[in-house]
Amino acid sequence: MVRRVAWVAITLFPLIVLGTIWKLRRDPTRPNVILPTNMAISPAYKAQSENVVFANGATMQDPVPGTLSRAAHPFHYAKTPEDCKRAGVKLRNPFPHSPEVLKEGQRLSETFCLPCHGATGNGDGPIIPRFPNPPSFHTAQSKSLKDGEIFHIVTLGRGKMASYASQLSWEERWKVIHYLRELQKQ
Ligand code: HEC
Repeated sequence: MVRRVAWVAITLFPLIVLGTIWKLRRDPTRPNVILPTNMAISPAYKAQSENVVFANGATMQDPVPGTLSRAAHPFHYAKTPEDCKRAGVKLRNPFPHSPEVLKEGQRLSETFCLPCHGATGNGDGPIIPRFPNPPSFHTAQSKSLKDGEIFHIVTLGRGKMASYASQLSWEERWKVIHYLRELQKQ
């Protein structure tokens, strides 16, 4: 009898211990206690909130005039044929014509340019003729465009073609141009 009680106790004991641990478990993603210190409840202003510190009452301030953020690429060209030519003379593709750059350029081109310009650049993408035909990339005039001129066209748009500056970053636009040049060789 005593032995049986002992066995029951031995089997039940771990279950009771595990059960208690399970019951008392804490959510490891939350702190057990939050003291109202500045660490937990930050006095910092939220980005969109009002702000008594600045004269215009806004937390988010414009950059200081004449300064640029480190990632910004200034582009001082107007949407005119003259400035397009000027971009062609002044701007150089900063990326090497490497297999990695071409691969990325192809991916971007197939996403953003192919719908109109077509897989081979003939101006016969799947959206044509619902959208007016773009010129083929294989004409002498297209081939004579400088990288900087194409950068100007993709950045600001030209004629019926819209600007792609918000879809493609500064780097991506240059990579697409490498791929376009590759298409023109074929
Ligand atoms: C919505 C359709 C459309 C898309 C998408 C598009 N384009 Fe265009 N593209 C055009 C049209 C239309 C023109 C002719 C613009 C004009 O009136 O001069 C053009 C012209 C061009 C030209 C000038 C060609 C020449 O021979 O003068 C280049 C270069 C060019 N596009 C590059 C691109 C690149 C690179 C992309 C992708 C980032 C792209 N386009 C995406 C419609 C498009």
